[in-house]
Amino acid sequence: MDTPGATARPRFQVTIEDSGERFACAEGLPVLKAMTALGGRGIPSGCHGGGCGVCKVRVLEGDYRTAAMSREHVSAEEEAGGVALACRLYPASDLRLKVLGMMHRAVEARRYGLV
Ligand code: FES
Repeated sequence: MDTPGATARPRFQVTIEDSGERFACAEGLPVLKAMTALGGRGIPSGCHGGGCGVCKVRVLEGDYRTAAMSREHVSAEEEAGGVALACRLYPASDLRLKVLGMMHRAVEARRYGLV
């Protein structure tokens, strides 16, 4: 007999250091998609396909995997240092992130009520 919820994918907590936002992201779901589905705005959102680079983040804590990312936006060296595009970032544990993309100042301005 099946147990209700037994096949549910694990959900991880994602914390965005810049905005203080926290949201849940199911395993197998890109962090950016989980955030926007919940109405979050802590990470700038663009193409959702790994091509524009506005969702660039650094993973400060946690385990994850990434799908292919444009080298135009994330170098191999950056990738090795924990930099990723949030639309290509899949959590494997709770994550703590810092926004690096070109719009990160807008995120901080919103946090402090400057815009
Ligand atoms: S939203 Fe364009 S690269 Fe992530």
